[in-house]
Amino acid sequence: MGQSVAEQIAAIRGELESRPEGLVRHVERVLVEALDLAARWDVDPDRVELATWGHDLFRSFPAADQIRLAAEAGVPVSMADEASPVLLHGPIAAAVLRERFAVSDEEALAAVRDHTLGLARMSTIAKVILIADKVERRKRGRVPVFGEIRRAARHDLDLALLAWADWKWVDERQHGWMSHPGHWEARQEWVREHHLDRGLPGRVDEAAWGEDGA
Ligand SMILES: [Fe+2]
Ligand SMILES: [Fe+2]
Repeated sequence: MGQSVAEQIAAIRGELESRPEGLVRHVERVLVEALDLAARWDVDPDRVELATWGHDLFRSFPAADQIRLAAEAGVPVSMADEASPVLLHGPIAAAVLRERFAVSDEEALAAVRDHTLGLARMSTIAKVILIADKVERRKRGRVPVFGEIRRAARHDLDLALLAWADWKWVDERQHGWMSHPGHWEARQEWVREHHLDRGLPGRVDEAAWGEDGA
């Protein structure tokens, strides 16, 4: 207890080093994107580092281990999670970061927990981690539209999240995959908020402007 964020980051990085090299390289690429977004959106880079290094600590574990670790960590497992146990790696990591690595930054923990599916209401740090995770260099090489989402995130994090959710929706339908109910709930809220925003009256009453627009 009482560890500094720098000490927590060092301990988490040490644990991550025991994971497959490909996963470690992914996390390093995510960090590049996450720190860029953190600077643009005025988020503390140390908190972003903490969440980034921790977000995939259990990503490489086999399905049976995900189920077992979730039970050990007290993470609820839904039927959708049972059908796709890899989706548990975020919630498991958040629980372990809290218990074993003494992380008490609730927003960073929620960012780790929700980085795979999203949540209706997310902190800025959680939005940064989710988007950085999807648009890192290798992934946007595989999915070119992620480059567009990366650009959008520099101007509007919510728009970038919605664009990712739209891509995910199409991808899932094309593959014949189910949408996770947790993600679908979040997506519905993002869509609703987006249209609420679009439906607002203009800030300027255009009729009040002269014909020359002065
Ligand atoms: Fe992940
Ligand atoms: Fe990741």
